[in-house]
Amino acid sequence: DRPSFSDLKNAIRTIPDHPAPGILFRDITTLLGDARAFRRAVDELVQPFAGLKIAKIAGIEARGFILGGAVAHQLSAGFVPVRKKGKLPFQTVSMPYSLEYGSDEIEVHKDAVSPGERVLLVDDLVATGGTAEAAVKLLSSLGAEVVAACFIVDLPDLGGADKVRRLGVPVRTLVSFE
Ligand code: PRP
Ligand code: HPA
Repeated sequence: DRPSFSDLKNAIRTIPDHPAPGILFRDITTLLGDARAFRRAVDELVQPFAGLKIAKIAGIEARGFILGGAVAHQLSAGFVPVRKKGKLPFQTVSMPYSLEYGSDEIEVHKDAVSPGERVLLVDDLVATGGTAEAAVKLLSSLGAEVVAACFIVDLPDLGGADKVRRLGVPVRTLVSFE
């Protein structure tokens, strides 16, 4: 039998007090290391988007690269890296944001997407939604149409999925940890 959504949830490991005291860190490396869970998670992430003419997947560094590459392959889409500041070699646009345990800045190449291009945002997890919100704003500022955002894990108590929905971007998540 193929893994169920509760099997996907059980494949994610929880590390208390990482990277700071009081944080219950949901670690997807155990899911990625489980061949059947990894395949099912990618199949479920792409499921609503097949046939929607997605031109590009935008994956957020670092864990969004792993999933985004697999999703891009499955949808025959291109891949755009959304990176932490200072990593991309060509001209960039950048945006600061805050997250559950700090703040950071992400950037994307100015020519990574074209006006009107249909983009799907991919990451492993949405917590406060600060990272995803910054990514949506960056891609939109370049004229892309962010069709949706998808994540394996939602932390609903932190409100991030709703924050992204308030930007007018539909959100798909597979498992929640309250
Ligand atoms: C984590 C996670 C998301 C983000 C979610 O990445 O992979 O990208 O935080 O948090 P938010 O919804 O509160 O913005 P992190 O910044 O730890 O980077 P990493 O993947 O490079 O470890
Ligand atoms: N796991 C992984 N990434 C995160 C988490 C978490 O629990 N919270 C915020 N980013």
